[in-house]
Amino acid sequence: MITKDTRILVTGCGGMLGEAIYSSFSRICVVKATDIDVNKEWISYLDVRDYQSVKREIIEFKPTVIFHLAALTDLEYCEQNSNEAYRTNAIGTENIALLCKEYNILAIHISTAGIFDGKQDVYNDYDCPNPINYYGKSKYAGEVFFKSHLEKYFIFRPGWMMGGGPEKDKKFVKKIIDQINSGKKELFVVLDKLGTPTYTYDFAKNMLEVINSSFFGIYNMVCKGEGSRYDVAREILKILNLEKRIKLTKVDSDFFKKEYFAPRPYSEKLSPLKLKLRGLYKMRNWKVCLEEYLSKYHWLK
Ligand SMILES: NC(=O)c1ccc[n+]([C@@H]2O[C@H](COP(=O)([O-])OP(=O)(O)OC[C@H]3O[C@@H](n4cnc5c(N)ncnc54)[C@H](OP(=O)(O)O)[C@@H]3O)[C@@H](O)[C@H]2O)c1
Repeated sequence: MITKDTRILVTGCGGMLGEAIYSSFSRICVVKATDIDVNKEWISYLDVRDYQSVKREIIEFKPTVIFHLAALTDLEYCEQNSNEAYRTNAIGTENIALLCKEYNILAIHISTAGIFDGKQDVYNDYDCPNPINYYGKSKYAGEVFFKSHLEKYFIFRPGWMMGGGPEKDKKFVKKIIDQINSGKKELFVVLDKLGTPTYTYDFAKNMLEVINSSFFGIYNMVCKGEGSRYDVAREILKILNLEKRIKLTKVDSDFFKKEYFAPRPYSEKLSPLKLKLRGLYKMRNWKVCLEEYLSKYHWLK
């Protein structure tokens, strides 16, 4: 149960999800935000690869909960630097699991839809992971450490993340808007990659709901609805009222095979089955969330 006395240490809090986590949880309890990318005054430096530093931080801050967000999230970087991917996403996560066990801290790990191979249409919480790239493999190793070292833990799996705003968003929404801002009048977007977009603020809100329920374990946690990358791009243009000015052209993934060479699952669609069965599913439709997300910032130059 999160109360005003709860002390949450957040790793990797300088990124897309960290922005929403910090904003949502610092209103209700004590939050210490850390990252190797100290991009805001409310963030301090902590490298999860360094076991002794994490241990020192725990002894000093005395967290009752750790939100472990820190990860290398660039698929191409992970593919080319697999040892680095394992050092951060696997060993870094094992460090958190071991220390949470030693200091009796509730451990919360953020995993990904990328642990599945994408061969089936949609994956529920009970389906078997079979990652096909180094990002997915290293993230899945993190899940396994949590499960094997800890009795009480949460693992939350988001889908395609939307959040962070123009400064922090590194993913699809920002990539589309960067192209618009660079003056492109035609955008090429893939139709053969499917997923469940996930708004960081809805994700943070649903995390609180599940943590407070104390039903520990693994949860797929994504917005309602699904779509292809093309569907998301079309919605962005619609919301920004650019449908008539910018042409959207459907392509398949081969079109981008040089730039995005890491293998990607055909379907990253997650079903939040467990949340639904427990009556804990509170996420909105991704289109509603995308509209809210885009209206929150000045995106267009
Ligand atoms: N973005 C998505 O679509 C998505 C989807 C599913 C799951 N997730 C998961 O959600 C979590 C949060 O990701 P995000 O979307 O917020 O990604 P993000 O914006 O890349 O944030 C991750 C943060 O972790 C930092 N980091 C990297 N190595 C670290 C280390 N050794 N110690 C401490 N911090 C470190 C990164 O710094 P640098 O930028 O300097 O590397 C970055 O600031 C991750 O676990 C990710 O795997 C993300």
